[in-house]
Amino acid sequence: MDNIKSRVDELRNILNEANYNYYVLDNPTITDQEFDAYLRELENLEAKYPEYDDANSPTKRVGGMVIDKFSKITHKIPMLSLPDVFNEDEIRDFDERIRKSGFNPEYVCELKIDGLSVSLRYENGKFISGATRGNGVEGEDITHNVRTIKTVPMIIKDNVSIEVRGEIYMGKETLAKLNFEREKEGLPKLQNCRNAAAGSIRQLDSKVAAKRNLDTFIYHLPNPLDYGIKTHYEALEYMKKLGFKTNPNNRLVKDINGIMDFIHEMGEKRDELPYDIDGVVVKVNDLEMQKKLGFTSKFPRWAIAYKFPATEVLTKLEDIIFTVGRTGRITPNAVLSPVIVSGSTIRRATLHNAEYIYEKGLKIGDTISIHKAGDVIPEVGEVKLERRTGNEKDFVMITNCPICNTPLVKDEDKTDHRCPNEKCPSRMINSLIHFASKGAMNILGLGDSVIEDFFNLGFIRSIPDIYNLYNHREDLVELEGYGNKSVNQLLDSIDDSKLNSLERLLSGLGITGIGDKTALALSKKFKTIDRLMELSVEELTNIKDIGATLANNIYSFFNDSNNIELINTLKELGINMEYKGEEEINNELITGKKFVVTGTLDFASRDEIESLIEKYGGSTSSSVSKKTDVVIVGRNAGSKYTKAMELGITIWDEEQARSIFKDLGEI
Ligand code: IVH
Repeated sequence: MDNIKSRVDELRNILNEANYNYYVLDNPTITDQEFDAYLRELENLEAKYPEYDDANSPTKRVGGMVIDKFSKITHKIPMLSLPDVFNEDEIRDFDERIRKSGFNPEYVCELKIDGLSVSLRYENGKFISGATRGNGVEGEDITHNVRTIKTVPMIIKDNVSIEVRGEIYMGKETLAKLNFEREKEGLPKLQNCRNAAAGSIRQLDSKVAAKRNLDTFIYHLPNPLDYGIKTHYEALEYMKKLGFKTNPNNRLVKDINGIMDFIHEMGEKRDELPYDIDGVVVKVNDLEMQKKLGFTSKFPRWAIAYKFPATEVLTKLEDIIFTVGRTGRITPNAVLSPVIVSGSTIRRATLHNAEYIYEKGLKIGDTISIHKAGDVIPEVGEVKLERRTGNEKDFVMITNCPICNTPLVKDEDKTDHRCPNEKCPSRMINSLIHFASKGAMNILGLGDSVIEDFFNLGFIRSIPDIYNLYNHREDLVELEGYGNKSVNQLLDSIDDSKLNSLERLLSGLGITGIGDKTALALSKKFKTIDRLMELSVEELTNIKDIGATLANNIYSFFNDSNNIELINTLKELGINMEYKGEEEINNELITGKKFVVTGTLDFASRDEIESLIEKYGGSTSSSVSKKTDVVIVGRNAGSKYTKAMELGITIWDEEQARSIFKDLGEI
């Protein structure tokens, strides 16, 4: 038996090594036939002696494990992303900021691989789990699929317990082949390498993922100090030594000039690379320096992602159509022949105002460039004059509202055209949409298209109609797509909104110049709408951050007889008109999480930290259990710290907690 076990081990070693040489080093050491022969021998032994079966065996690379749903994995240290910068000046600012903090940093420049980030955990040298980034705190368990990625070692070359992070991606050629196959099968093509990689890793059946030929680059070691490592570059080398695939273009540079050189070189090399990149990542090399620079609530302060200039594509401007906003503002919109830009299909783009169209010299029928950087809204670039055929039509600005036909007005010092008719259906619909929106009254189930439908059906024509909607219950349940349940839910959420604190109503009323922030500041200061309605222009102008124009807007709004009537009607309908105190503020890292604070912290007392956590919607408890999400650990922390470690709970040390609360403006 022992002989068999040692042959099994030997075969696994041979196959792992061959796999590593082939996939990671791109330097095959045995032939495909030899590889297959060893693999078959191992498969036979494993089938015959199931006691030697092992999830990390090279025979498992082909997949076969099917899960019924993705479970969650909590990251021991949050998985942060990086702040994006879009030009060289912003990189210089980054460097200057660090220098101003008294450092003279070296940097590591890396390619920004366009895939999805992954965290890989190993215990005593063996692979145990793989997780996606998820919301940064909790990701999805994709272990079964990660096992099929050939460049992820199942056994690393040192018997350590370690977590490493990197990018899972799909190579350009793999995507091309996959799309070729999909087309033959009549399936829609996958739009880009990133979507293809993300879709492949989210397969329940690992056989499917195995066929997708995914790959990895590992670029981050979350706990470098545990391994006696002092710089990020050393961390990269250490991970490479352990058997991970690191990117051969990683480069240690002395200063900002080195960064710029790297960016220029890689910009040129970009198209030749066998995988997609969307920029360059710059990281401070010295880990002690990194630690001192710390984190904001979302990002490390010691790294940035430079995004290459937007990709540009050409398309045809088919038409220009106009929309009328809540305030009557007319927005011209480009109707485009659909094009894919940076992976998404674009059919419309805003043209802002008539002036913008004249400046660009757009004609209907023109070929124009469209660009889009990352997730940014697509923008119209320029007209390709050389593509003009003579059949293009001049753009003529409309003179009347496209919805109610009222002649448009143009405010003297402004470029915008406006429909002055307050009863313009489009203005009314958009005002109602604004009133019910998330930032204002937050009425669930009363979204844009529902409001539009109800408006057209005559159920909701004004704000008070929302609160009288229950009179139409019978009609509503008859509507297609509605039933008793959804109508009840909608009416309940309308009812709930009556209890909102004053600032929500104030934002919802749509007073020109009053956004969420001013609404909150005014509500906090004056507490009731009655008090706000009594204020003189002078009193309003005296308020911090409220200038003469805004003061006038507020004053005229509250002294307009229609608005006074509206507010009185809403009062009668039972809508709260008072400020109700601090609203819980949402924060990705805190809201909904269970915290334990232990040990002595310098930046605030334990009580203060606990009330901050509660302010951001987290809860606190005095003992650590499996249900705890985060343990904040100060000096001389004892058993709670140890327990948190044992349970694998996320731990924030003083510095991390301090920087999170600092960024929230709390300390
Ligand atoms: S470093 C704290 N390095 O880009 C370190 N990220 O916004 C965080 N990415 O979420 C990541 N290539 O998915 C790093 N060489 C690289 C990267 C890289 C791609 C992705 C990653 C991250 C996002 C940054």
